[in-house]
This record gives sequence, structure tokens and C-alpha cells, in this order.
Amino acid sequence: MFEATPIAATDKTTLYRELTSQTGGLLHGETNLIANAANFSALVFHTLPDISWCGFYFADGDGLVVGPFQGKPACVRIARGRGVCGAAAASRRTQVVPDVTAFPGHIYCDGAARSEIVVPLVRADGTLLGVWDVDSHSPARFDEADRSGMEALCAQFLRALV
Ligand code: SME
Repeated sequence: MFEATPIAATDKTTLYRELTSQTGGLLHGETNLIANAANFSALVFHTLPDISWCGFYFADGDGLVVGPFQGKPACVRIARGRGVCGAAAASRRTQVVPDVTAFPGHIYCDGAARSEIVVPLVRADGTLLGVWDVDSHSPARFDEADRSGMEALCAQFLRALV
């Protein structure tokens, strides 16, 4: 049985390093997408401070459809190129949005959301699996340390699927 170990680190570099290592343990030996996405969301939601929602949007047809997540119910479908998620999917670059009110076309699933980070999930063969989206009620919750930490975390998630 996997048991999440509380992480005492307060600096983001150590926090993400430990979280990435725990993720490796949690997903080890399982390649099922839904199972791993569900457990990954739960681990991140219960480990990172000050986040209000985290979860997956998977590529589906031309757009994105919600996958496993933690937090309040969310928008089901996001059309191609729309919102922060659509921007991450289209550009294949992580979007760090310190103030969602200033992001043109940001899609509110929770009116209290203030900042957001979205990481594109690109498979080894170059196809887009979807995006990993994390929201906070605090302004500017995510910075460059979160960008590199979340990207490492997502790389670990993608590795487990093959
Ligand atoms: N805010 C996102 C939509 C998804 S929710 O935050 C869960 C966006 O603008 O794409």
C-alpha cells in the first residue's frame, strides 16, 4: 500500500523533488491512464499548499475534456485554443498566470480562482495527451519554481504510462 509521506520542506525546489519521488512510487507498476491520473491528482492536491483545484483535461477531438481531478466540479469541455488550458495545449508551453483576471479568455470554473498554472502533456511520440491544470484562490501563487517543479512532476506522470 502506498502511503503519502507528509513533506516538511518549505522551499519549492525540495518540495517538488520529494513530490516527484513520491509520484514515482505511487504510479510504479501501473500504466492505466485513469487510475494514475486519479491518484496523481489526489497526491498533489493533498500535498501542495494553497491550491483550490488540480486535475487533467485530456485531448478529445478538436478540444479538451475534463479528466480526473480534485476540487469543485469543473467545466467539462474546453474548445480548441480557449482559456489557459487551450493556450497550453495549442502552444505546448506551460502557462503561468499570476492574475487570471488579466488573462484574455480565461475560463472560470470557480469564481474565487485568482491564479493558475497549466502544463501541456506531450507523449514521447509527440502527440498531445492533454494538460495538467492547477488553480489557486491566491493571486500569484505560481512562479518559475512551480513551472519547473510541475513540469518535472508531469514528466514523471508521463513516464509511468509507457
Ligand atoms: N481556468 C481554466 C479552465 C479550467 S478550470 O480552471 C478547472 C482555463 O481558463 O482554461
